[in-house]
Amino acid sequence: MLRFKFSSLLVLVVWCVFAFSTTLFAQNDGDGNGGTADSAPVTAPSVAGLSVDQSIIDQGKGLFDANCKQCHAVHEKIVGPALAKVYERRTVPWLINFIKYPQRVIESGDAYAVALYKEYQQYMPNHDFLKDDEIKAILSWVQAETIKGPATATVAAAAGGDANAPAATNAVANTGLLTAIIAGLTFLLIVTLAVLALMAATLSKYLKKQSDLSEEDLEILNQRINWAGIFKSQAFIGITAFIFVALVLKATVEGLITIGVQQGYAPTQPIPFSHKLHAGQYEIDCKYCHTGVEKGKSANIPSANICMNCHNAIKTTSPIIQKIYEYIERDEPIQWVRVHNLPDLAYFNHQQHVKVAGIECENCHGNIKEMEVVQQVSLLTMGWCIDCHRKTEVNAKDNAYYDNLVQLHAKSSKSPMRVEDIGGLECAKCHY
Ligand code: HEC
Ligand code: HEC
Ligand code: HEC
Ligand code: HEC
Ligand code: HEC
Ligand code: HEC
Repeated sequence: MLRFKFSSLLVLVVWCVFAFSTTLFAQNDGDGNGGTADSAPVTAPSVAGLSVDQSIIDQGKGLFDANCKQCHAVHEKIVGPALAKVYERRTVPWLINFIKYPQRVIESGDAYAVALYKEYQQYMPNHDFLKDDEIKAILSWVQAETIKGPATATVAAAAGGDANAPAATNAVANTGLLTAIIAGLTFLLIVTLAVLALMAATLSKYLKKQSDLSEEDLEILNQRINWAGIFKSQAFIGITAFIFVALVLKATVEGLITIGVQQGYAPTQPIPFSHKLHAGQYEIDCKYCHTGVEKGKSANIPSANICMNCHNAIKTTSPIIQKIYEYIERDEPIQWVRVHNLPDLAYFNHQQHVKVAGIECENCHGNIKEMEVVQQVSLLTMGWCIDCHRKTEVNAKDNAYYDNLVQLHAKSSKSPMRVEDIGGLECAKCHY
């Protein structure tokens, strides 16, 4: 009758609680949207004038990709506003008119349009070549995408720099909820154990007063809990390892979300400029456009005038190239979206790395020559900089500046002179 083993009970309870909490955990972090399925069918009621017909939605996506994608996304502000729920902000006829003749609507004094213009400081181009039905198709696609919700948390985390990436906040909220759930369950576990211990103590006190216990029962009664056995048991080791892995995983996920590491960030640009075509296929030297890499801190993004060196003759009738002409006519810089972005507190100098150290662009930026759209390949964290400074030898060849240093270093050390040896780990070198 007393044959229950305290240790197996303990193991069972711990197991149940953590199995439960980690399932929750996995569900929540698998998709940062708290359950918005990837391909939720469009079942919500449609706004008047918009369609839920899949063929129209597909047509809308095609038109959007061809005419709007360079400036708009559904869940993210790019050059223009995020279009999610735009059909709730304005009526469909208003939107059709605005998309066709934005400048005319703004100049007519329409308060909403004027406010938009004040915020974005630019006119979007006229789209009077689109038919009303085609604009409705685009908006139908926007509606379908709005209902689907933003893409997964990893994408949003990668784009963490953008002020309005809804999925990221969502994911953070989810991890907060998760911590609360885990804390609650742990509390429950402790209470359960305390109650069990109390019950066991009372029970054995009571039983010890009985005189008619069998030999076998007495033995169990006087048995002490075998802690050493519990700690060595496979179940205990398994659970501990499991909890440890789960916690590390959680910390990593949270870390990635909050630090704002932007590895993989590849924003859509106002002009779909291809490095694969220009730097890859046509082998134009990086320095032809990024004129600063050997001269100073910043690599520089070329102005439209540099494009014109070729494009006043090449592909002049292409609608994309026409857009570059429009920028020049309006005397407005092309508003490229920055891909790489160190925080203000850190100082990075291209000349030092490219000219002095002779490091190839590819070491830090990846294979740009293969990229249609530039993507941040390296982490750009402090650890990333330091790691390379620990490993890389100073390029002292043909550099009189280093002659003395190299001699000094050779006296005190047999290993080659690395960046750390010339002060590459000093805080003030990288921090203002
Ligand atoms: C060259 C960039 C550019 C292109 C291309 C572009 N837009 Fe825009 N769009 C903007 C800007 C900028 C605004 C903000 C209003 C303004 O300042 O004119 C805007 C505003 C809008 C708005 C109003 C958004 C709101 O929050 O009320 C809608 C709707 C819209 N655009 C739809 C479209 C559609 C549909 C297309 C493609 C057919 C398109 N845009 C193409 C730049 C662009
Ligand atoms: C014909 C001009 C041209 C050439 C040649 C060129 N680039 Fe660019 N590069 C651009 C323009 C324009 C942008 C901004 C648009 C973009 O990000 O795609 C840019 C952006 C970049 C960025 C991202 C900048 C940011 O916002 O953080 C990197 C990195 C880069 N280029 C590296 C290279 C490398 C490496 C090469 C040589 C293999 C190269 N580029 C050749 C024009 C050029
Ligand atoms: C050294 C010459 C050169 C420079 C500078 C140059 N391009 Fe190009 N660009 C080309 C060539 C060559 C093509 C390919 C033409 C073809 O496909 O027939 C091209 C194609 C393009 C295309 C594709 C057009 C289309 O409709 O397919 C775009 C967009 C483009 N360039 C943008 C730019 C931008 C933006 C800049 C400035 C940052 C720039 N280019 C600078 C030579 C150049
Ligand atoms: C040692 C690593 C490293 C090397 C090598 C390197 N870059 Fe960069 N690059 C960076 C970092 C870090 C940033 C972000 C700088 C910032 O935000 O202040 C950056 C930013 C850029 C930018 C964005 C504009 C700017 O100046 O901030 C361009 C364009 C660029 N690099 C082009 C190049 C080209 C072209 C080469 C090769 C000639 C090159 N880089 C070599 C690390 C490197
Ligand atoms: C691919 C390797 C590599 C990476 C990545 C790298 N560096 Fe460097 N860095 C070097 C080398 C090599 C030198 C030595 C240049 C010289 O000879 O002066 C250097 C020198 C420096 C110096 C000057 C140090 C001194 O004592 O004069 C600073 C500052 C610096 N790097 C900052 C950064 C920052 C900030 C980052 C990260 C955003 C970074 N580096 C990433 C290789 C790297
Ligand atoms: C080789 C360059 C380099 C050196 C040396 C360096 N840092 Fe940094 N540090 C960076 C860069 C780059 C960042 C920005 C990283 C990011 O945004 O994730 C940074 C970020 C930081 C931050 C902000 C962390 C955060 O999460 O935003 C602190 C604090 C900091 N560094 C302190 C130091 C101290 C203290 C030292 C000296 C012991 C030091 N750093 C040496 C490059 C360096």
